Amino acid sequence: MNGSLMLQCIRWLGGGPMADNKTHFDDAATYDRFMGRWSRGVGSVFLDWLAPPAGARWLEVGCGSGTFTGQVLDACAPASMSTVDPSKSQIYYASGQPISQRVDFRIADAQALPFPDATFDVVASALVLNFIPDRPRGLSEMRRVTRPGGVVAGYVWDFAAERGPTRPLRSAMLARTAFTQARTLELVLSPAERSVKSSMT
Ligand SMILES: C[S@@+](CC[C@H](N)C(=O)[O-])C[C@H]1O[C@@H](n2cnc3c(N)ncnc32)[C@H](O)[C@@H]1O
Repeated sequence: MNGSLMLQCIRWLGGGPMADNKTHFDDAATYDRFMGRWSRGVGSVFLDWLAPPAGARWLEVGCGSGTFTGQVLDACAPASMSTVDPSKSQIYYASGQPISQRVDFRIADAQALPFPDATFDVVASALVLNFIPDRPRGLSEMRRVTRPGGVVAGYVWDFAAERGPTRPLRSAMLARTAFTQARTLELVLSPAERSVKSSMT
């Protein structure tokens, strides 16, 4: 794992001394290399479950590097495909992919979608809802741009049950942190304190 990738992982995991508790999506290529395979896996399960009609007008909210966008194009024969993401890096990366000819990419936030009411048949968000600061506002925007009787759907990892793809990495990093803290404590204790500590364990 190179330095850049490790930095991104720490940022996504929300830990480490350099984290500012905000998830950054400003390095789309690294994101795609790290998360793309997981996005594809869960995206295809979601589309099988959703079973959307062919020929629908789609909006994807938070398209990232365009993984799920490509899956919709391949599997759902949409009449049109629009996407938004507030990250310039993600939109530039996605719009450089072969799918770009068939997609209307826009830099925009879920909380202020740049479309008139009732524009789409299906509005979907893949692994995005937890990142939207005002989720009721974001969901209300998704509903506004969906035609009556259309579909608004999305999914996120089951973070509460630790069922996300970063779990093994996070566990390893936490174990490493705990080990480092224990080692540091050992080093700062005086010999007398160390012997008290070892008599207590
Ligand atoms: C985990 S990525 C998921 C990307 C892609 N949908 C996928 O399945 O791989 C989350 C994406 O949500 C975007 N995002 C974050 N806040 C957002 C917001 N307020 N509105 C729309 N998208 C947002 C990020 O820029 C990022 O590209």
